[in-house]
Amino acid sequence: MPEITIPKNRLNLPETIWWENGALFLLDQTVLPLEIIGERQETIEQVSESIKALKVRGAPAIGVAGAYGLLLGIKELRDLSVDDFMGKIEEKAAWLGEARPTAVNLKWGLKRMVDFAKSQSPANSGELYDLLLEEAIRIHEEDRELCRMIGVHGAELIKPSQGVLTHCNAGSLATSEFGTATSPMYVAHQNEVPFRVYADETRPLLQGARLTSWELQQAGIDVTLITDNMAAHLMSQGLIDLVITGTDRTAANGDVANKIGTLGVAILAKHFEVPFYVALPYSTIDFDMPAGEGIPIEERDPKEVTNFGARRTAPNKIKVCSPAFDVTPNEMVAGLITERGIIRPPFKENLSLEYATAQ
Ligand code: MRU
Repeated sequence: MPEITIPKNRLNLPETIWWENGALFLLDQTVLPLEIIGERQETIEQVSESIKALKVRGAPAIGVAGAYGLLLGIKELRDLSVDDFMGKIEEKAAWLGEARPTAVNLKWGLKRMVDFAKSQSPANSGELYDLLLEEAIRIHEEDRELCRMIGVHGAELIKPSQGVLTHCNAGSLATSEFGTATSPMYVAHQNEVPFRVYADETRPLLQGARLTSWELQQAGIDVTLITDNMAAHLMSQGLIDLVITGTDRTAANGDVANKIGTLGVAILAKHFEVPFYVALPYSTIDFDMPAGEGIPIEERDPKEVTNFGARRTAPNKIKVCSPAFDVTPNEMVAGLITERGIIRPPFKENLSLEYATAQ
């Protein structure tokens, strides 16, 4: 098999997703940071498996991967009539959208592809496919810009010599480029503001240790890795001035679903009076979800808890609970850092005011 060359993005980090000569490639995030490997995706089924296995992960990234993945599912069906092709597009989009339930971006990206397909009047299915490829590329490029703008607006929150805590990976690896929670960090760093980041390791799958600490270190940002249970101590020592996390789905009232453990960080931040911010593009807001209690929470394989990597660390037959996400109530959130600016409470009113105009 020919070796896959991984392109770099504007932060000089590996691209998470790229489309090259009619083929889809993903950076395999399960082996980072020890190996930097790209994997060609041959089928929509493979893309679904890659999403479930977290080879590609993070809300915006799975939205983009879903849009490209749909193309793989319909590529060989271009001989169908436009009506039958449209039926297949809807069917495959609905199927791929089930790969992971919590991050709304996956369903958002697929819905955008389906809605776009419906709005076209192509001469044949081949033409519709080409138009859909252009739309997937637009979704991808738009995500780069949305994330960069999050940084432009959020960088002002990071003051010289401050300590910023983040949880999981809402970084370049979780998006098309700048990340969401990390985007203010990248922009502040580009602006030569000196600050420290503390990255929670984020059990059970260690996105903070494997991904966030790696990508920030690569970018030359001062980053310190801590285990999840150290955050309270660091806050008690006055080392954390600000928390910024990402989100997989934000409800219309500003309740925020994010990686398991985020709620604990928010509770600590409230106790120690540290402002807790959440960074997100509009594609992560679910206006059809009135409050966080309705957000579906993915339950992961118990092995992710009973094992530490390949090594088993718990007794056989132990009962395990493994929710992948939790919901932080909006009253704990100081602000939502978006591509349009920092949205403050009351979130229900301010989100709907800000996004009243069509994207
Ligand atoms: O299970 P993961 O690794 O996909 O979880 C990712 C997160 O929780 C991120 O914080 C979230 O998707 C925001 S990514 C910009």
